[in-house]
Amino acid sequence: MQKKLVISESAIRRRIAELGRQISQDFPDGGLLAVGILKGAFIFLADLVRAIDVPLEVDFIRVASYGDRTCSSGTCTMTKDLETDPAGRHILLIEDIADTGRTLDFLTKELAGRGARSVHCCVLIDKAMRRERAVSINYAGFSVPSGFLVGYGLDHAEQYRHLPAVYELLPDQQKQP
Ligand code: PRP
Repeated sequence: MQKKLVISESAIRRRIAELGRQISQDFPDGGLLAVGILKGAFIFLADLVRAIDVPLEVDFIRVASYGDRTCSSGTCTMTKDLETDPAGRHILLIEDIADTGRTLDFLTKELAGRGARSVHCCVLIDKAMRRERAVSINYAGFSVPSGFLVGYGLDHAEQYRHLPAVYELLPDQQKQP
């Protein structure tokens, strides 16, 4: 297959264990509302919450996709809201990748505006060089400067999300439907 391994399953497992320990230490009293940003975060959230050993709740949110990329070229709109009231809650936004930062910028402001007590961001992959919005990433698994990444929740045209590791899709594969 025309893809190159970028982050292995074992590296992901080790890093998530570290992130889980750090988050547990930072919120010793628990009470977190862990919010997965659909769809890409579903696998990362599932593994991360199992590495956190303080009480938490889980919810999901989804942001509109215009064209090929969520928010990267325009205005963000929520297409699936939380089922939990964020007011007064410590929110942990869980995202597979921070690219331009538009999605996290939008959601951080939206949840703060609804009275969240705090909003922290945890991303598996930080593509900081592509940032267009100054978002605060509190927990980042890996820094990857470039490349079209797939696997472990990340897709290309809805393919590859199920792969257990993260790969860079090479140019000839990106042209495939
Ligand atoms: C991707 C990714 C993040 C967002 C990051 O979502 O999962 O949610 O883009 O980009 P940004 O930092 O430029 O806002 P995508 O549009 O691929 O939707 P998906 O999660 O449903 O795959």
